[in-house]
Amino acid sequence: MTAHATPLDPALPQQLVEIASRLAREVGMEIMRKRRIGVDVAATKSSINDVVTEADGAAERMLADALAIVRPEDGLVGEEGGSRESTSGITWVVDPIDGTVNYLYGIPLYAVSIAATVADETAYADGRRGIAGAIYLPETDELFEAWQGGGARRNGEPISVADDGPLETALIGTGFGYTRSRRIEQARVVAELLPDIRDIRRTGSAAYDLCLVASGRLNAVYERGLKPWDYAAGALIVTEAGGILLGHGEDTPPGEPLLVAGSPELTRTLRERVDVFGDMV
Ligand code: IPD
Repeated sequence: MTAHATPLDPALPQQLVEIASRLAREVGMEIMRKRRIGVDVAATKSSINDVVTEADGAAERMLADALAIVRPEDGLVGEEGGSRESTSGITWVVDPIDGTVNYLYGIPLYAVSIAATVADETAYADGRRGIAGAIYLPETDELFEAWQGGGARRNGEPISVADDGPLETALIGTGFGYTRSRRIEQARVVAELLPDIRDIRRTGSAAYDLCLVASGRLNAVYERGLKPWDYAAGALIVTEAGGILLGHGEDTPPGEPLLVAGSPELTRTLRERVDVFGDMV
């Protein structure tokens, strides 16, 4: 990652969110069009259940090409392997389809997630922090967006996290990784937590989970093993909506191995309950 020597222009985050939102919509419409024609597994990654469709790769290339034209000096990190060094101090972190299994099965909860990030060693586990981000769900036509200091919005309307409340009445989102060993750990945590909360939701898209928290439709979310492209845009949307994000213990930033997000007090309480597997990534 190339450090940025000069301070960023304060107007830049808002300019970048306009790019992120436009591209999220364009790519979202394209993957939805492809979904209507049909979809097949093109490859698998960490396990046979960690799938990639042809649309994932095509959508990431579409994003990478468009960003290279409008922001040629910026870097890129993409879920499907897209990578470019930054000379501007800005790196785009993109997930062309978050919720790929939903996409494969025709479940409408899949999203394009795009974040413009800057280097910040302490903010998140990957050493970057979002300054502008957009998440678009083409099937439900929902655009979530935020820029640093500008608040968070859903389809142009301001959103905020739910009021703090007790764990007993909290609706909590979570997700599961793709490997057997990770799922055994995650199942144990859910088994311990479920009796003490209102209920659990598993949407299949971590980016959307964070949007649900930011709009007060989930009280909090947690997951082990999320990657930067799963949370880069969503984390900014949550913080701009008044929420907080925590990681494992007091000193490890959110990301891998753990990310917990929601209203401030509830997030601290929830972290106590789900932070049980140490710093193992
Ligand atoms: C996955 C989704 C899922 C989460 C997984 C992610 P993908 O991303 O966000 O909700 O539980 O950890 O890997 O594979 O659909 O891009």
